[in-house]
Amino acid sequence: MMQAVAEKFEPFPGISAQVYSRADFEAVRSIVYDVAGIVLPPGKATLVYSRLAPLVRNSGKQTFANYIDTIKADEGERRKAINALTTNHTFFYRERHHFDHLANEVRPALLAKAKAGHPVRIWSAGCSTGEELYSLALTLLGPDKGEAAPFLRGDVIILATDLADHAVAGATAAKYEMDALKDVPAELVRPWVKQVGTEAHIAPEVCGMIRVKRLNFLGPWPMQRPFDIIFCRNVMIYFDQPTKDTLVTRFIDQLIPGGHLYIGHSERVCGPKQDKMSLVGGTIYRKDEA
Ligand SMILES: C[S@@+](CC[C@H](N)C(=O)[O-])C[C@H]1O[C@@H](n2cnc3c(N)ncnc32)[C@H](O)[C@@H]1O
Repeated sequence: MMQAVAEKFEPFPGISAQVYSRADFEAVRSIVYDVAGIVLPPGKATLVYSRLAPLVRNSGKQTFANYIDTIKADEGERRKAINALTTNHTFFYRERHHFDHLANEVRPALLAKAKAGHPVRIWSAGCSTGEELYSLALTLLGPDKGEAAPFLRGDVIILATDLADHAVAGATAAKYEMDALKDVPAELVRPWVKQVGTEAHIAPEVCGMIRVKRLNFLGPWPMQRPFDIIFCRNVMIYFDQPTKDTLVTRFIDQLIPGGHLYIGHSERVCGPKQDKMSLVGGTIYRKDEA
């Protein structure tokens, strides 16, 4: 008991406890959990320090304790702090088997829907800076511009959302280093990506079917129509079980019967409605018909 109390007040190595204490870490942890559902395990204490220290400095505060008072009171500063604490690691064609499944098993039916004038809705949920979103868009469109016309002319929307402002800005910009697309099949890059110097610019016609928005999974979801496909990959790993259960339940409610949910390789479908989903590939689930 005495040891636990002593540990609580022990400074982090190399950091003055006057500037950043264990109590400060606990306070940040609790704010991030309440706002975003993100669980910061004790091992992340120094990461929190390094991510927030520049914001503490810029705010003119001398200590984390003072800065925490600011983020409690000031929504704008709180948003900056939460942005800084998100992990946005992503890359094109991550978990390639998802895109192969989409191209071979799902795309033909979506093309038929688009041709028949029916709406097609896809959601990249937790899209980070957009690499997943454009991997999805290029796979949907396919290599043949003529064949893709029903997607481009039809009622087809790919929604991409993220909590972090810088991620939303990156996904909206739709510009990457050409190198970043090295795993995307060349026959998909050719028609839909323009090389400008060392940069890859996603073609405007592709961007025309995309809507990028800021959305916190914990808040309301204003979407009107259900989705044919939801990608939510490598996001739930940051959440605890009750948050995962709620999130998966909301995704299931948001899918059409027969719609597909793609999740990260270390994630699983959970929660009270999980029986409505059938596993049809590696971390690919299909919602049962009615
Ligand atoms: C590791 S990235 C995953 C990106 C992409 N889905 C992939 O698999 O490559 C996780 C993303 O989830 C977002 N995120 C975390 N908590 C969120 C929340 N409560 N609401 C919405 N997005 C959140 C983060 O901002 C981050 O960009």
